[in-house]
Amino acid sequence: MNAINTLFNIQYPIIQGGMIWVSGYKLASAVSNAGGLGLIGAGSMYPEVLREHIQKCKKATSKPFGVNVPMLYPNIEEIMNIIVDEDVKIVFTSAGNPKTWTAFLKEKGITVVHVVSSSLFALKAQNAGVDAVVVEGFEAGGHNGRDETTTLTLIPMVKEKITIPVIAAGGIGSGRGMLAAMALGADGVQVGSRFAASIESSAHDDFKQTIVTTEEGGTQLTLKELAPVRLIKNKFFNDVQSLYDNNGSKEDLVTLLGRARAKKGMFEGDLIEGELEIGQIAGLIHDIKPAGQIVNEMIAEFKDAKVALISMDF
Ligand SMILES: Cc1cc2nc3c(=O)[nH]c(=O)nc-3n(C[C@H](O)[C@H](O)[C@H](O)COP(=O)(O)O)c2cc1C
Repeated sequence: MNAINTLFNIQYPIIQGGMIWVSGYKLASAVSNAGGLGLIGAGSMYPEVLREHIQKCKKATSKPFGVNVPMLYPNIEEIMNIIVDEDVKIVFTSAGNPKTWTAFLKEKGITVVHVVSSSLFALKAQNAGVDAVVVEGFEAGGHNGRDETTTLTLIPMVKEKITIPVIAAGGIGSGRGMLAAMALGADGVQVGSRFAASIESSAHDDFKQTIVTTEEGGTQLTLKELAPVRLIKNKFFNDVQSLYDNNGSKEDLVTLLGRARAKKGMFEGDLIEGELEIGQIAGLIHDIKPAGQIVNEMIAEFKDAKVALISMDF
């Protein structure tokens, strides 16, 4: 028995995190077909594009899947109405207040999960009525909390505060990582970066190749004054750092960031001027492979590592 498998009616407690420019219906359905839970990332989609992805996902899998809605983007009301209209059963919200949409979604019979990066916000999400939380540590790719709390410390601290199921995220890209998170009390894991470097990911091929060649220390959490985000250290990242070195203001950062940097980097493959979001675990990602294979290998390694630990004696 596993609380996450029961909550979503899936086989393995592996969630493929919603990722702007990376997780369309192809990735989500591939993960769901392999027994995990795939999430369509609505954050980079116009409402009608999201509708199309949901409809295609329904055709590509008969298994449960969900939609991730980062609440910092525009058109949220329209997006939520499409989700209800298309009869999506699972929604992961992030980057906003869980109170805003949880009651609305729950009333429609939708399972709601909220992404947090601290135990304080985990408690707020529980109080808002969500079914589970994703607790995301400092290691994670994409947008993140300001406090730099690692996944290793965050999981047990959240477990002290809340009673609903906990999904750990940040730095998990292998079966061993999954086992470690679950040893700390997580009921399941959310994996982002590892799936960004999959065949079905809609990231640009050049970005995928960059993930595979990124080494330990190749990423950093930056832009904390705007919305903290972990980036690969490319020219754009270095430009941001130069601005910090020269005491640039918040306005200077906004101007430098401009518009559509993430699309430019991750979707259009501009490795120089684009924003390349990826987690620390990139240092352990050495190949681009089918998402289903990633799920199967994680589960096989999880099981082997669990057996190896049981036989360890002191
Ligand atoms: C390229 C990229 C885009 C992401 N976009 C989103 C997003 O749109 N919404 C969200 O809630 N999280 C987003 N994330 C975070 C992931 O859903 C996930 O929680 C995180 O990647 C887990 O950490 P990991 O990268 O170490 O596996 C993104 C992560 C990456 C790498």
